[in-house]
Amino acid sequence: MLLSLMIFIISVAASTFRKNPPTKEIRLNLAERDSIESVKAFETVYKTLMSPRCMNCHPAGDVPLQGDDSHLHAMGPKRGVDGKGVFAMKCANCHQDTNTPGLHTPPGNPEWHLPPAAMRMVFQGKSPHELARQLVDKKQNGNKDMKKLIEHADDGLVLAGWNPGEGRTLPPVSHAEFKKAWITWIQKVLMRRKNSFNLNLP
Ligand code: HEC
Ligand code: HEC
Repeated sequence: MLLSLMIFIISVAASTFRKNPPTKEIRLNLAERDSIESVKAFETVYKTLMSPRCMNCHPAGDVPLQGDDSHLHAMGPKRGVDGKGVFAMKCANCHQDTNTPGLHTPPGNPEWHLPPAAMRMVFQGKSPHELARQLVDKKQNGNKDMKKLIEHADDGLVLAGWNPGEGRTLPPVSHAEFKKAWITWIQKVLMRRKNSFNLNLP
């Protein structure tokens, strides 16, 4: 009786031992693969956001940046409360609905402006970790949920980065590559958060 009980206990113990570690390993592998994919996708996102075509409108200060070297905008137009400039220096005075032909002319877009003073969405000077956190924080990203963040990949000002006007370099990857990486990263990060795993960005 005692012997059969002992055999029973040992076999139960052995079977849990056999079953548990592999399941746990599979889960770990999935989480690991997920976070490797997420980190790789964010590398592409980060280098695009930090390229001059994007960063020039996401400056640390209140004056936009210009050129491939991201110097301060000539004549120092200011952000203003709504991001559209102040007094006589409104962005739309010089930035038309479409690119002005020629070198060193203003790029154009009907919506050309900086993020507003109350939601500055700074990219300049941010580490990958800081920027990753900011992008998915509704208090800092203009209250964007996963759907709105994904849609933002096709925002007019984002697309303007790939139509920068004469003499300006393009972002480091194509718009299609950026969009793919952006969606992969957003989905993985926000799913992980939803599943209440640690939010270990990026
Ligand atoms: C003409 C200026 C301008 C340019 C150029 C520009 N942006 Fe923006 N960006 C804005 C403004 C204004 C907002 C705020 C509007 C909004 O939230 O819908 C914004 C918001 C964003 C946001 C949402 C902020 C957040 O924290 O989630 C992202 C992401 C973004 N831009 C990415 C880009 C990328 C990528 C590029 C380059 C390919 C780019 N932007 C180029 C002006 C610009
Ligand atoms: C007095 C005219 C004028 C005003 C006002 C003006 N800009 Fe510009 N902007 C220009 C010109 C000209 C260029 C191109 C400079 C060059 O390429 O050397 C330019 C370039 C830029 C660039 C660089 C684009 C790139 O891809 O590198 C950004 C960003 C920009 N302006 C944002 C703004 C914003 C935002 C405002 C309003 C707050 C504004 N500008 C107001 C004339 C103006």
